Amino acid sequence: MTLSTMTHLVGSLSGAVYDADRLWRTDPVDGRPLQARYDSQVAARTLTKAAMATRRTNGMWRWAELLPVRSPGRRIYLGEGATPLLSAPGAGRALDVPRLMVKCEGGNPTGSFKARGMAAAVSRAAELGASAFIAPSAGNAAGALATYGAAAGLPVTVVMPSDVPVAHRVESILAGARVLLVDGLISDCGLIAGRIAQATGAFDVSTFKEPYRVEGKKTMGLELAEDLGWRLPDVVVYPTGGGTGLVGMWKAFDELQALGLIGGERPRMVGVQVAGCAPIVRAFTDGQRFARPWEGARTRAAGIRVPGAVGDFLILDALRASGGTAIAVDEAEMDDAQGLAGRCGLGYVSPETAAALAAVGQLRSSGWLSRDDQVVMFDTGVGHKYPPPPDVPEPAVVAADEDDVDRLLNLAAGP
Ligand SMILES: Cc1ncc(COP(=O)(O)O)c(C=O)c1O
Repeated sequence: MTLSTMTHLVGSLSGAVYDADRLWRTDPVDGRPLQARYDSQVAARTLTKAAMATRRTNGMWRWAELLPVRSPGRRIYLGEGATPLLSAPGAGRALDVPRLMVKCEGGNPTGSFKARGMAAAVSRAAELGASAFIAPSAGNAAGALATYGAAAGLPVTVVMPSDVPVAHRVESILAGARVLLVDGLISDCGLIAGRIAQATGAFDVSTFKEPYRVEGKKTMGLELAEDLGWRLPDVVVYPTGGGTGLVGMWKAFDELQALGLIGGERPRMVGVQVAGCAPIVRAFTDGQRFARPWEGARTRAAGIRVPGAVGDFLILDALRASGGTAIAVDEAEMDDAQGLAGRCGLGYVSPETAAALAAVGQLRSSGWLSRDDQVVMFDTGVGHKYPPPPDVPEPAVVAADEDDVDRLLNLAAGP
């Protein structure tokens, strides 16, 4: 039986050390994120390349030594993780990036990579005694929290902007969660969730305001190395809102190196945002370590409509240390890329994924990406839960006895 080798938590800015077996939220010193640390020597004894080749089940929990849950019986496993990393020849040809690959996170329970984070956070917090959960969400995190809370048999409240797509609302309600809609942005939802958490004692799993969601999400980085034969690609492209996905992967690479499973090489990390909400891109360009909140955030890609990220400096540090970059695409480019993804066989991807695909095209056009680069783009979630992009033609409805084939084909929507 493989067990967690977590030793302690550390303040990401203060460096202060905390007992890993108490339920913490942020660093009491400065309110910044706490991060889990593991005993790499102990983990290296069982987490070997040969051992991983034999661990065929349990999705992301295959990496138990580097995850925070102590008791195997407390791992809530609904099928998260172990997603495919696929070559994307169609998109690669269209964008002139022949070695483009896609890590397909839409196959996770609830349709996005958020499942990984909530699996870890709910399992660990419940193991430490949490008896109710709350979180603000742009949508995908709400569905995931509601689902993992239901699996744990614990009550969940989610707080979402009132314009959240209906599928996210319905998914959360059907999973038994209380759903509150706020006339505001995700940051306003965060304040309300915080108030409710304080008054009720529900454990608040807001992005980077507890240490474990990022631990689940880092398994994307662990898998990436294993998928590529214990190597990392030249470039990773990731749609970035709160940043846990990107920061988690960056943490994963260090942990793999500490275990001797990879060397010191790292991909150039690319954080993708949309022009209507690009605080990380602005801070990256201005050489700032912390990102000023974005005023009037607007984009259809709700998961990256995050005006102020608590882990801003962690995102920016990772982008810079990797030799990577931050890029904002226009809303219309994102909309077009959603269609390109469909036509290239990537499926109906989320607008966040479409933003990442548009960014790959732009980075190739500008020469930042070369034809030789092996590029892994993260398809972070399915498109089915979102309203459709603008300008999708409406197919005609025809009579059931219509038999004029030319007329039928003329009426059909599509290219
Ligand atoms: C589909 C999708 N992609 C990307 C993101 C951004 O993720 P992160 O907060 O890890 O930056 C989100 C967040 O909600 C999302 O739902």
